[in-house]
Amino acid sequence: MQPPRDAIEAVTHLDPWPFYRSLRQERPLYFDAGLGLWVASSHAAVNAALCHPGLRVRPTAEPVPRALLGTAAGEVFALLVRMTDGEFHAVHKPAAVQAARRWTLADVARAAEDAAADLLPRLEVNDFIAALPVQAMARLLGVPDDLRDDTCRWVRQFTQGIAPTADAQAVALADDAAAALMAQGRALGLQPVQAANRIAFMQQAMDATGGLLGLAALQLAQAPEQGTAADASQEAMRGFVREVERWAAPIQNTRRFAAESLTLLGQPVEAGQAILLVLASANRDEALNPQAERFDVHRGQGRSMGFGAGPHLCPGASIAIEIVAACARHIRVGGKFDTYFGRSTGFRPLPNARIPVFGQ
Ligand code: HEM
Repeated sequence: MQPPRDAIEAVTHLDPWPFYRSLRQERPLYFDAGLGLWVASSHAAVNAALCHPGLRVRPTAEPVPRALLGTAAGEVFALLVRMTDGEFHAVHKPAAVQAARRWTLADVARAAEDAAADLLPRLEVNDFIAALPVQAMARLLGVPDDLRDDTCRWVRQFTQGIAPTADAQAVALADDAAAALMAQGRALGLQPVQAANRIAFMQQAMDATGGLLGLAALQLAQAPEQGTAADASQEAMRGFVREVERWAAPIQNTRRFAAESLTLLGQPVEAGQAILLVLASANRDEALNPQAERFDVHRGQGRSMGFGAGPHLCPGASIAIEIVAACARHIRVGGKFDTYFGRSTGFRPLPNARIPVFGQ
């Protein structure tokens, strides 16, 4: 098997781990001229970048993607804590953290089980993976039954339309979807910033949590004895899913943009340059995890960079783990887990998320 050519190709490569290891050992922070990006792969480099005040989630010259300017989707984008830094982020992030804490794990598990019971009979496996997390979040957010499918479709359209690769048609669909979702928030009495970040809860849940579910299924297929141990209790399944997240990292990388010229681990980063932070590689750094290349469900919490770190740390980590654990248990108790997921045929062609595709 040829190694991946670069850290973007690695996201969907069958075995990116030796490549990530060699990056960490030989050039933990380097400029990849082909990608036009700095690439950070060690825990020290990734963590330093996530915590550096001069490195921002958006390029300073383009806080909202140009294609979205003047659209409802652009207005939502500008209000997302995920997409903003500085004072705006500092003021509004606590509300997102609090909002994520309003549900107990039991609430989350119930929402995931109900969503799984509803979707399993009507969706094939890849559509199920894509739909389950957003349907579970919509239930938690109290979206009425008769609006749930439309709401989830709008969230998907919004997500696709704000992607850097979106064409004009995708942007137009995202615009309509954003308007419909914001109207929903207004009807609930929410201020625009609350309504936008309510959308983000469903949007952020979607690909990452779907990827985690698919990666958990892959791991269970490769190591059935781990499934037997995980089946023992919800706590055991949670520990298994947590380790899958660290080990396989559904969000393999994220990006930062230099707002000023700065030095990162002794390297000069110029204003305007972008850095790819390989979270998946940082998770397998011995500096973060002893025996990092070993799958071990008994590691405990707090040893993954897969949910980010620093000011933009994901507020939805335990929600994501619980959705996947509850859903996996629901399907396994029904006895159809292996036949439903079938064989993996590769990964969806995405530059940051590792989402297995299943086929017969
Ligand atoms: C396996 C599933 C998930 C993974 C791997 C994941 C990963 C991440 C990562 C890496 C970030 C930080 C991005 C950066 O700093 O550049 C992030 C931010 C965020 N995530 Fe998640 N996430 C997951 C599920 C969720 C869920 C279920 C929710 C909703 C409840 C959520 C809500 C958010 C929000 C609102 C932010 C923005 C926080 C900020 O920018 O301050 N995520 N997530």
